[in-house]
Formats: sequence, C-alpha cells, structure tokens
Amino acid sequence: MRILSGIQPSGVLHIGNYFGMMQPAIALQAQGEAFYFIADYHALTSVRDPKALRENIHRVALDFLACGLDPERAALFRQSDVPQVTELAWILSTVAPMGLLERSHSYKDKLARGMLPSVGLFNYPVLMAADILIYDSDVVPVGKDQKQHIEITRDLAVKINETFGKVFKLPEPRIQAAAEIVPGIDGQKMSKSYGNNIDIFGNEKEMRTLVMSIVTDSTPVETPKDPSRSTIFQLYSLFATKNEIAEMRERFQKGGTGYGDFKKELFQKLWQYFAPMRKRREEILADKSYVDSVLIRGARRANEVANQVMQRVRSAVGL
Ligand code: TYM
Repeated sequence: MRILSGIQPSGVLHIGNYFGMMQPAIALQAQGEAFYFIADYHALTSVRDPKALRENIHRVALDFLACGLDPERAALFRQSDVPQVTELAWILSTVAPMGLLERSHSYKDKLARGMLPSVGLFNYPVLMAADILIYDSDVVPVGKDQKQHIEITRDLAVKINETFGKVFKLPEPRIQAAAEIVPGIDGQKMSKSYGNNIDIFGNEKEMRTLVMSIVTDSTPVETPKDPSRSTIFQLYSLFATKNEIAEMRERFQKGGTGYGDFKKELFQKLWQYFAPMRKRREEILADKSYVDSVLIRGARRANEVANQVMQRVRSAVGL
C-alpha cells in the first residue's frame, strides 16, 4: 500500500493539522510505503515572502519529525524537489473541466476571504491531483476540508484513463472520524488563516492564554452544560482517554463546574500530550544538518517513483 499526504508550509503547525493529518499519517507509516511532502508550490499561492517560505518549509519538516515521522519508514520531502509534478499538473489540466474547478469549495472560500483569483489558486486542485497520482498513491490521510480535492483527483484520473487507457490508480481519502474538523478557539474550523489556531509547539504561556480564551456560552457554573456543543469538550476528547472523556462528559451534564475549570484541565492535557515531542524537537535542533539530510534523502526516493510514473504517463499521452 502506498500512502501519501502533503502539508502547506504557510505558517506554523496547529493541532488541527496534527489530529487531522499528521497523527494518522504517522500511524500509517508502519503499514506501507509512505510519502509525505511539504507543499511549497501550493504555498506560493499565498506566501509572498521568500525568506519566510524557506523558514516555514524547514520548520514544518522539523515539527513533523518531532511529532514522530520516522524518515527510515516514510520519505519526507519538498514538493518542489520533484518538479515533474508541475509537468503532470499541465497534462491533467488539459483534461480538467473548468466547471469542476469552479465548484471547488476551497477556491470559493479563498476568494470570499479576499484572495485574488490567480490562475494558480484556480489550478490548485490540479496540482494536488498531480501530487497524488505521480506516486501511484492508494491512501491519502487528510482532514475533511481536503475531501473534495481527492474527489477531483479521482475525476481527473478517470478522465485520463478513459482517454488514454489505464494510466492511474484511483486513490482513497482516509479521514479520521474523531478529527474530521478540529475546531479552533472560536468554534470554527481551526485554521491559521482564521487566526483561531492553537499551535503544537507554542510556548506554555501562549498556549494557556489561547485555551483560556476559547469561546463559550454564558451558562452559569451550577447549571448543566451540553458537552456536544462545547469546543473545550471536543478538544479534550482528542487528547484524553476514554474514561477521562466519559468523566468530563458526566461533569458537564451534572453542572457545578465552570468553563474556566474545564479549560484548565484541557490545557494540562494538551501541554502534557506534546511534552515528549517538544523534547524530541530539542534533540533534533541540536543536529543542525539533520532536517536537510532527511529532506534530501526523501527527495531522492520520491524522484525514483515520480520518474517511473511520468515515463508511463508521457508514453500514454504521446510525448
Ligand atoms: P493544509 O496545509 O491546509 O493542511 C494540512 C492537513 O491538515 C488538515 N487540517 C485539518 N484537519 C482537521 N481539522 C482542522 N481544523 C484542520 N486544519 C487542517 C488538512 O485537511 C490537511 O490534511 N491542499 C493541502 C496540501 C496538499 C495535499 C496534497 C494534501 C497539497 N497536495 C496532496 C494531500 C495530498 C492543504 O492545503 O493542507
């Protein structure tokens, strides 16, 4: 089984990225051949500062490794170290219907947030399809916000297969039921661009302040509260054991505990959860060349596969 996923280096990583994609991707690395990349070509659609982009790329690699990505099992690489994906994106774009891309939720969301409709932004799902298809990927661990992109990938693969014979495998998304859409501190989807993110490697004071500022309703301390509508409870459920979750649910429903106390418990869990990863991160940081050497090795491996698949594609389409 070939597993593939990507993450944009458009800022620091938050716990939505972690539970939506990184944790499942790390769990899958032992179950097949894994390819995980830093989507720097995609990030160019929003990041305009070359120095910041370079720093973010390095930081995402470091953070992913600190969280448990094992470079002996999974290839970790920069998207732009496999420039063949842009060639495949062009080939896919020649069969991609405009209407399919016009229906992309993420494109419409980005325009609604005021981004300029560049051709790159419009073509974003085509490049993403190329990322997936160029590694003959079977499984793509992602958060729910990427589901439509995988559907577009499958549509484009089918179009190529119908036109040129069987060229591509059809990939399947793998979405964690418990973390489809991790909420941010305002209850909306956690996202750097919404400014509601809790970062994995934020410092203690910052993290505590963010947790304490999670938006709640004004139910008084003594009154029972609905856990299913609480961002605090939803986030706590990601970190806690089954028993701990059941216990907090009961205390929500019983009344007598204020949101402030629940927030303190959430903060403790969150801070403890990432403690071993913070330690590993310090160790990696001590070896200045480690991250770069991982990325170079990963790129070599990714290129081997991408070159084979591109040979097949070029021959199928007549190049
Ligand atoms: P990106 O960088 O926005 O996010 C990386 C991964 O994190 C997941 N995620 C979340 N999951 C649950 N709850 C949240 N609040 C949350 N926020 C982010 C995303 O679903 C994603 O899986 N287009 C991709 C990058 C990409 C890619 C690919 C992914 C480029 N090519 C090929 C898979 C395969 C993106 O922008 O993810």
